[in-house]
Amino acid sequence: MLVSAKEMLEKAKAGHYAVGQFNINNLEWTKSILSVAQEMNSPVILGVSEGAGKYMTGYKTVVGMVKGMIEEMNITVPVALHLDHGSYDGCMKCIEAGFSSVMFDGSHYPIEENIAKTKELVAICKEKGLSLEAEVGSIGGEEDGVVGAGECADPNECKAIADLGVTMLAAGIGNIHGKYPENWKGLSFETLDAVQQQTGEMPLVLHGGTGIPEDMIKKAINLGVAKINVNTECQLSFAEATRKYIEEGKDLQGKGFDPRKLLAPGAEAIKATVREKIELFGSANRA
Ligand code: 13P
Repeated sequence: MLVSAKEMLEKAKAGHYAVGQFNINNLEWTKSILSVAQEMNSPVILGVSEGAGKYMTGYKTVVGMVKGMIEEMNITVPVALHLDHGSYDGCMKCIEAGFSSVMFDGSHYPIEENIAKTKELVAICKEKGLSLEAEVGSIGGEEDGVVGAGECADPNECKAIADLGVTMLAAGIGNIHGKYPENWKGLSFETLDAVQQQTGEMPLVLHGGTGIPEDMIKKAINLGVAKINVNTECQLSFAEATRKYIEEGKDLQGKGFDPRKLLAPGAEAIKATVREKIELFGSANRA
């Protein structure tokens, strides 16, 4: 069922586990993630970046595909379709297109502006029954070869945003999108602890799930993280399996060039990654 992320994340926070947000790029990604969530009886969040939405020709296509798959594949576990790092306009478009959840990333605005825009979206999402994620303290990452360290959020600013009535909150705690550099200092549990103390029951979101060691993931869940985003790791698994298929010359054997055969190892590899994460996050059998 397509649902908002509110109930699944409140349950996760109370039950001390986390629900995975897996970003989708196309049909194969979506199908792989949904089938593993169903097989493991786990709630799941499908993340769509603005770029991925554009790639798939627009948000309406995404909504049609996801709703169609839920029906055709008999998916009974709770599924949220969520805009990842949305702009204000992107959120409005996704709300209109039928997403069940959106993230407004106002972390690059001065805090007053982040608060003002988030507040407007809280009202709209409440009225329409969508869950809303807000962000304080930017998530670092590699862009154009420049690696920025993740900025740590100010716990008081987190409280100000949480008090607006958002569903879940992403706070920067030294986490980074993509692969972590060798000299990465690790997550700041001190910041996470301070944020949780200020925000109480609010489910917290950990971005940049790729490459965070298992013990840090478990500690973060203990300190109130109830949603963990994974994107790059599925991309790497897909690329590696596809490369192997081609390098072994399988596309040149028989009908190995048929896209349904060519993309199958990559789709299976995504499944293996998602299975591993659901196991680690503890959301299996929590649907
Ligand atoms: P990774 O690509 O590092 O897994 O991060 C995903 C993410 O946080 C999406 O918002």
